[in-house]
Amino acid sequence: MKFYNDILGLIGNTPLVKINKLTAQQGIKAQVFAKMESLNPGYSVKDRIGISMIEHAEKSGELKPGGTIIEATSGNTGIGLAIAAAVKGYKCIFVLTEKVSTEKLRYLKGLGADVVVCPAAAKHGTPDHYVETAKRISQETPNSFYPDQYSHPANPAAHYRTTGPEIWNDTDGKITHFVSGVGTGGTISGTGRYLKEKNPNIQIIGADPFGSIFKTYKETGQVPEATPYLVEGVGQSLPVGNADMKTIDQIINITDRDSFETARQLSRVEGIFAGGSTGTNVAAALRVAKDLDENGLVVVIICDTGEHYLSKFYSDEWMKEKLLLEPQRITAGLISETKDSGSPKEVIFAAPDEILSDALAKMSKNGVTQIPVLEDNRSVGSLKESRILAKLLENRDLLNSAVSEVMDESFPVLDVDASFDIVKENLHRAPAVLIEDFKRVTGIITRADVLDLPR
Ligand SMILES: Cc1ncc(COP(=O)(O)O)c(C=O)c1O
Repeated sequence: MKFYNDILGLIGNTPLVKINKLTAQQGIKAQVFAKMESLNPGYSVKDRIGISMIEHAEKSGELKPGGTIIEATSGNTGIGLAIAAAVKGYKCIFVLTEKVSTEKLRYLKGLGADVVVCPAAAKHGTPDHYVETAKRISQETPNSFYPDQYSHPANPAAHYRTTGPEIWNDTDGKITHFVSGVGTGGTISGTGRYLKEKNPNIQIIGADPFGSIFKTYKETGQVPEATPYLVEGVGQSLPVGNADMKTIDQIINITDRDSFETARQLSRVEGIFAGGSTGTNVAAALRVAKDLDENGLVVVIICDTGEHYLSKFYSDEWMKEKLLLEPQRITAGLISETKDSGSPKEVIFAAPDEILSDALAKMSKNGVTQIPVLEDNRSVGSLKESRILAKLLENRDLLNSAVSEVMDESFPVLDVDASFDIVKENLHRAPAVLIEDFKRVTGIITRADVLDLPR
């Protein structure tokens, strides 16, 4: 029989997968390999440190039977700890920030953990910050263990013991550059230290979101004011113990837009469905690989699965709301569905046989100055407040006429899949366009609705 004694046996030994099209598109001569940490049983690189920190604590006596594990996490370390805790019979409480995706939060609950959510804006060191909250809960909970992945030596040690040797062996020692994100710093410091011991010429490169402190801290020793960014799990607002700047040769800053676009491309052209921090890493890896010749061999960490972010950057609606969607993916349907609060709006319209005064009352009640005239869900004309008022100045009796007698020509009607360019073109000559799906008018876009979209 061939089987594993429990799910923990599946952690590690993740394969390398060659990145082909993204490199070819940019004329890259070096080889770039993805280290598929998303294939761990909890779908992230953090499974390795979950079991590593728990076994360390069992040996040291910090964690006793029936104990509760309490940790501050952006989700993946929690998942790694919760999987090991489920197998070994411990309870878990995880403290997250609101920034963490719903998918990861529900996943943790599905693994039996209790979850506490803290404000994302709380500053380091203040009582509401998620790390301070986790510390407080652990002090108040009897028989508890607070691993603190940011400083626990078993975090980088797991990567020194497993990730580093796997990469060295699978590349036959030919690796020249290693690219990883820096969250706690465990992955880059542990793997980097092992690889440098094997060959000190291997370059260890950190990929860091714009807004995080690591690049400035590495280059100047100063800690700048951090600014918010959307990528989860990487970057910090303060230096952390496990991020060993001596092991890291260079840090490259990547924008949210570049991270998410690269992750979305990675899934579309390579079939590797990964999270936002993987986009950060791959964007940095491609930048490094561009300057290398055919002897370059870059290994980049695929931190976690894209399934954790289906409601975030894999949603066109979310990307549009954050002003990050590539203009070519913005369609007429998407604009009309997501305008204002994001909830689909009923189209306010007049019928051709409606009395004009009723139609004007409807426009005034809804605070709109122009409406389509629809018959059986097809557009037959339009009413524009300024034109109607001009006509009424001439002849007040028109108030009792049917809409069909005073209406103007229809607004342009576009298919839901019409591109943003076509929407803009039509809005140059008409104040609004109607959206049609299966020959039924389903939405309206006015000039005001496209003001905040990318040009
Ligand atoms: C999604 C994701 N990517 C990358 C990282 C960074 O890894 P490390 O903490 O080893 O630096 C984390 C860590 O929390 C993460 O959750």
